Amino acid sequence: MTNTLLIGAQWGDEGKGKIVDFLSRDADVVVRYQGGSNAGHTIEIGADRYVLHLIPSGILYPDKTCVIGNGLVVDPLALVHEIQDLEKRGILSAGRLHVSDRAHMVLSYHKALDAGRESRATRGSKIGTTQRGIGPTYADKASRTGFRMGDLLDPALPDRLRERLAEKNVLLKDMGADLIDPDTLCREIRQAADFLRPYIGDTVSLLNTAYKAGKQILFEGAQGTMLDIDFGTYPYVTSSNPTSGGACVGTGLPPRAINRVLGVIKAYTTRVGEGPFPTELMDATGEHLRQRGREFGATTGRPRRCGWFDAVVARYSAMVNGIDFWAVTKLDVLDETETIRVCTAYECDGKRYDTVPACIATLSRCRPVYTDFPGWKCSTSGITSQADLPPNAKDYVKALCDITGVPLGVLSVSPKRAGTFRIAV
Ligand code: GDP
Ligand code: IMO
Ligand code: MG
Repeated sequence: MTNTLLIGAQWGDEGKGKIVDFLSRDADVVVRYQGGSNAGHTIEIGADRYVLHLIPSGILYPDKTCVIGNGLVVDPLALVHEIQDLEKRGILSAGRLHVSDRAHMVLSYHKALDAGRESRATRGSKIGTTQRGIGPTYADKASRTGFRMGDLLDPALPDRLRERLAEKNVLLKDMGADLIDPDTLCREIRQAADFLRPYIGDTVSLLNTAYKAGKQILFEGAQGTMLDIDFGTYPYVTSSNPTSGGACVGTGLPPRAINRVLGVIKAYTTRVGEGPFPTELMDATGEHLRQRGREFGATTGRPRRCGWFDAVVARYSAMVNGIDFWAVTKLDVLDETETIRVCTAYECDGKRYDTVPACIATLSRCRPVYTDFPGWKCSTSGITSQADLPPNAKDYVKALCDITGVPLGVLSVSPKRAGTFRIAV
């Protein structure tokens, strides 16, 4: 039994969904532990493409138990949609999906507050959120004014919702945003409750029972280390802990239930939303990566900012997560690139940085120090084993591992299930 924790090691969208799907074959249980429907995890199987926002990516195997852990913030309406969509596509059978009664609920006023704040923010204070209500819901959780999925089963919920909404509508009014109608909110929530009732339960016990029975558990991180509220580029982050530490508090499983940590990294870097990005390319090379890598948000459709691989970020991620292996994705996107650059350190005000500075103003002024690698200028997307990689591609992947001090576990050269190679996990 080896339980694997899979972490995004950059700014999200590293290809976590695809790697979780790949590893799910060997797992019994796949569990998400943080975030919400801000996530967009893409899996391509043959001609079919699935984008999952709340449901773990293991769901595409018919025999896996999937859990939405207590650390998530769940939009009940979005979850109903996602379940119905999978049912329509013949994927979801009863009894396989479990939603924690402790997970907090994203309500329509959280989404309105998120959107309202973003639309009023001036340039420097805009975060570029997905507007899925994530920040306001985690804020309510911390303020002890939230509602949890288990509350959907409480007959007194409508009264409690109306009372809370009265407070939130004052904030919305101040922002000049549309107010939320209490009757609409209560109707929507009642309908969602009727639908979701069979899915909601005590996932902490369920997971611990599975753990004690020796079932193989795969933890699916969402977002990425640089979006972590503690370790990311604060304040340009999400409101949860995508890093390793989040996996225990977001599931109720103890630290010793995690046997290894797999960090997912693209062979280059992307970021969606605002905030510093030292290796960002604002030129034709950046545009080439965006087009070739189809770098458009799986949740919002926004173009992703693209840049060179940042080994400072990767080393930092390896440190804070305790990464045992890399899963390197999207190597094929570099197939046509003449010279590939890797940032090995930053420079700011004459000082060299080998790790990510906490101060956002400093990070914003950091300039990358690059090492160049020759491209391979041929297609890798059809290859069927690591041994078939062109020599320069092999050297590039080896360099990423050497510079970061983390060995290669999985390599991916295509969005499809095929085109993923297991090296050491
Ligand atoms: P996630 O949020 O980390 O699950 O990643 P996303 O699904 O948001 O974005 C990753 C995108 O890259 C998706 O469109 C995947 O289908 C695609 N992808 C994943 N691995 C590879 C790969 O090795 N090569 C290529 N070309 N695309 C990939
Ligand atoms: P996956 O799981 C990439 C970014 C947003 C914004 C910041 C805060 O698909 O990798 P939020 O809505 O969370 O309050 O937005 O975080 N962000 C993501 N970027 N991938 C994601 O998820 C993201 N989830 C949030 O763009 O910059
Ligand atoms: Mg994504």
